[in-house]
Amino acid sequence: MSIETQNNTNSPLHKFHQWWQQAKHNTPLKYHSAFSLSTIDAEGFPASRFVDLKDLNQQGFIFCTDSQSQKGQDIARNSKVSLCFWWDHIGRQIRIQGHAKTLDPNTSNHYWQQRPWAARITTLCSQQSRPLHGDTNRHQRHQELTQQWASTDGELLDIPRPEQWCAYGVEPTRIEFLRFKESRLHEREVYWVDSGAWVVGGLQP
Ligand SMILES: Cc1cc2nc3c(=O)[nH]c(=O)nc-3n(C[C@H](O)[C@H](O)[C@H](O)COP(=O)(O)O)c2cc1C
Repeated sequence: MSIETQNNTNSPLHKFHQWWQQAKHNTPLKYHSAFSLSTIDAEGFPASRFVDLKDLNQQGFIFCTDSQSQKGQDIARNSKVSLCFWWDHIGRQIRIQGHAKTLDPNTSNHYWQQRPWAARITTLCSQQSRPLHGDTNRHQRHQELTQQWASTDGELLDIPRPEQWCAYGVEPTRIEFLRFKESRLHEREVYWVDSGAWVVGGLQP
């Protein structure tokens, strides 16, 4: 199913945007857009880690990472992923299942341009998820790249995106919203796709 517009107020994507906006406003959280991303590894184990949500649009829930990392390799083998958001300050959880895929190079370039210069340098000198063999070389490489990508008068030069650093889009097939209640009478609402349209239902807490 193609990802429908968030302007449809009956859509769970519209509701996600509303909750995400609420989570961003007056937040004590520095990483209010971080979510737990679970992939399936080569042995069939779920593997979870936090990543940052960059956007939600027609291309899905967008995050960026190294396609050679563990998660990148997991997704290349099995596109099924699960996302979980928890915003303690508003007492809300959102769980999403769907399929992840790499997006086109222009989209990856767009998000790379938003990446702070220092983080781009770190990306260049890190082979994400590969074993660490001592820190000396890494620090030296970091220093070299910092010098390479700054002009003599200190101007920060534009660092091109390494090919393996990609934007991914997750097309959702199931989205569950939970409002946390201290009484544990949480309110749960689940949306799933049936014959190309979103269907909604409630779940017991
Ligand atoms: C709050 C937070 C946000 C993070 N955001 C990202 C991210 O957007 N992309 C990324 O590749 N790693 C991010 N990381 C690091 C990942 O959690 C993880 O350590 C890294 O991507 C390697 O994961 P993997 O070996 O399972 O592929 C973040 C970590 C934290 C704690």
